[in-house]
Amino acid sequence: MTARRIVLLGPPGSGKGTQAVRLAAWLGVPHISTGDLLRNEVQNRTELGLQAQSFMDRGELVPDQLVAEMIRQRIKGATGFVLDGFPRNIKQAEILETVTTVERALHFQLNREEIIRRLSARRVCPQCGAVYNLISSPPQHNSLCDKCKIALVQRSDDTPEVIQRRIDVQYAREIRPILEFYRKRNVLREIDAQGDIESVYRAAQQALE
Ligand code: AP5
Repeated sequence: MTARRIVLLGPPGSGKGTQAVRLAAWLGVPHISTGDLLRNEVQNRTELGLQAQSFMDRGELVPDQLVAEMIRQRIKGATGFVLDGFPRNIKQAEILETVTTVERALHFQLNREEIIRRLSARRVCPQCGAVYNLISSPPQHNSLCDKCKIALVQRSDDTPEVIQRRIDVQYAREIRPILEFYRKRNVLREIDAQGDIESVYRAAQQALE
């Protein structure tokens, strides 16, 4: 049976969002990205967004209680989901386990050099949120979204300094206990995220069987 309650783990820029969109469409389940949800709150200047913004700008994790409630509401009772960006620490993994049972945790592995290369070339559509890469998946016409035809932008946290902090302060510091947590439950699968988008997608699909 194919797993349908899935979490994607991995450093910034390892392709979690890119693969989450494809996997969610393939499985017919919602793609839930904490990064997208938080950016939406920031854009709408909600109370949560105002609290989250300074952490995101510094490349640090937003406090657990702010993120956990947002996720709880979306996950409760769901028979399937692709969670992209949650859990980010062991506390969040434990909170998630009180709401649902994760069937597969895919850990995307990518080296620092390639992370920086990919994130420096990432561009996003401010309207529809589509993600491009000037090197690996460029738009058809110079820096315009293929669908909305408006100018693509760089994410404000995709600067060299903030990328380093996201790798060191969030990922490197927090990932080990999360991997151990899912390894013990026998649901962890390692994915080499170095290949192109299609080959990583095939590896992820196989890991869900
Ligand atoms: P979030 O938006 O989740 O950022 P992230 O984890 O740093 O991940 P990214 O979105 O940068 O990368 P990705 O792995 O999705 O890569 P992508 O597919 O775009 O979080 C942002 C912030 O919100 C955090 O810093 C934190 O402050 C806060 N936050 C979020 N969740 C939280 C939580 N649970 N708790 C507390 N705080 C939280 O790919 C990157 C680029 O590479 C793209 O251009 C893409 O086109 C390209 N690409 C993808 N795959 C390939 C490939 N195989 N080959 C070549 N290019 C590729």
